[in-house]
Amino acid sequence: MVIDDEAHLRITVGQTLELAGYQPQPFDNAQQALDNLDRDFSGVLISDIRMPGMDGMALLRELRQRDPDLPVVLITGHGDISTAVEAMREGAWDFLEKPFSGDQLVEVVRRGIEKRRLSLENRYLKAELEAQQSAAGPRLVGRTPVIKHLASMAQRISQVETDVLLFGETGAGKDLVARAIHERSARSAHPFVAINCGAVPESTIESELFGHEKGAFTGAVERRIGKFEYAQGGTVFLDEIESMPLALQVKLLRVLQERMVERLGSNTPVELNIRVIAATKIDLKAASETGEFREDLYYRLNVVTLPIPPLRERLEDIPLLFQHFAAVAASRSGMEAPPLDAGSVSALLAHDWPGNARELRNLAERYVLLGVTCDYRLDRLMEGSDSESGELPLPRQVELFEKQLISQALVRHQGRINEVCEQLGVPRKTLYDKLRKHDLKPDNFRQHDRESQP
Ligand SMILES: Nc1ncnc2c1ncn2[C@@H]1O[C@H](COP(=O)(O)OP(=O)(O)OP(=O)(O)O)[C@@H](O)[C@H]1O
Ligand SMILES: [Mg+2]
Repeated sequence: MVIDDEAHLRITVGQTLELAGYQPQPFDNAQQALDNLDRDFSGVLISDIRMPGMDGMALLRELRQRDPDLPVVLITGHGDISTAVEAMREGAWDFLEKPFSGDQLVEVVRRGIEKRRLSLENRYLKAELEAQQSAAGPRLVGRTPVIKHLASMAQRISQVETDVLLFGETGAGKDLVARAIHERSARSAHPFVAINCGAVPESTIESELFGHEKGAFTGAVERRIGKFEYAQGGTVFLDEIESMPLALQVKLLRVLQERMVERLGSNTPVELNIRVIAATKIDLKAASETGEFREDLYYRLNVVTLPIPPLRERLEDIPLLFQHFAAVAASRSGMEAPPLDAGSVSALLAHDWPGNARELRNLAERYVLLGVTCDYRLDRLMEGSDSESGELPLPRQVELFEKQLISQALVRHQGRINEVCEQLGVPRKTLYDKLRKHDLKPDNFRQHDRESQP
């Protein structure tokens, strides 16, 4: 917003900013600017000091009341040091001394917008964290359409009685989604019992799941309640279901269909009141076609499948999640979360994240605890963790750099192809080829009008 009673200043300032790619809004008096300001205003206010009606200093005071994070730049007369000092003391973010150059103006606006972006981001994050603490159960952080959709699906599923299959790469959030469904459901007062089918030895998994009677087999000295029975009223989470032995898959299928369980060595079935959530990292359909997974069990599990997209398909969430993890890590150790500069954000976007959110969380924790040892240069911390550590070969570096530039342009233009082509100076065909090569989807950068569904 450019506020000045003199038309020629509004026009020159406006033109300079427009040429630099901004969208100036001119106002000839302070009140009008105030009337047009909303809470989520993402820009900078530049105001002259001497104006009829409400002057620049009064405007500044009013703005400080409304939103102390707004970057306000006051235009002071040449050599008017005392006014400039007073403006800064009153909380102006910066001042421009007349006459100022176009470059000075653009630089102030650029920094102001960056500051504002960070304040809004922090505000959003704080609200997220508060919501996280108040909401029942964990919250899925993210604002890309895919993650909002996932959150709303999880919410709906939590309210109905159905078994669920979660499908996603390592660290993508399967555990988190399973817990979120349980916590929001009517079962939340009952146990959430997680069992990692890949980690329990084949010889004991059956008794782990179903329990056994005393003397059912050698070594069964006591009766034991299995996980299914233990979860009565609640939820059983079968993690890495793909590694469940085939023989046991038959028994699991029966449990899912009949909602009954028999302890080993017993003939008395126990009725079960549980929800089963299974998770897999592999394509179970393909596995069932090759006979590695029972087809009937696959179809039984596949009634409701929730795919959890990998992090590289929701680039926009990466900085947000990073800040979320950093804030959590910082508050746990009683520290301030260090800020994230633009270079670090680019480094985050350029990475592939094979370990998904878990890898990002680990990095964020290292950044909070060890960032000071490397001047908060995120790229240096990442090098250490990179499996391709050391100097990357030139073609790979060039590739990453290209991906980073395209991602930034997509973020900036919210996935609008024409504008991205224009900014990068490439024809559409070239851009599409590169999007495919880097596995970037413009849709993931679009801001959808429709917020998450109820
Ligand atoms: N959208 C998200 N918002 C907040 N935290 C998340 C999100 N997704 C994942 N996390 C966090 O990232 C970490 C890894 O997620 P989680 O353990 O759920 O992954 P997973 O899919 O179960 O991985 P694995 O297959 O290796 O078991 C957890 O600390 C989880 O809380
Ligand atoms: Mg897990």
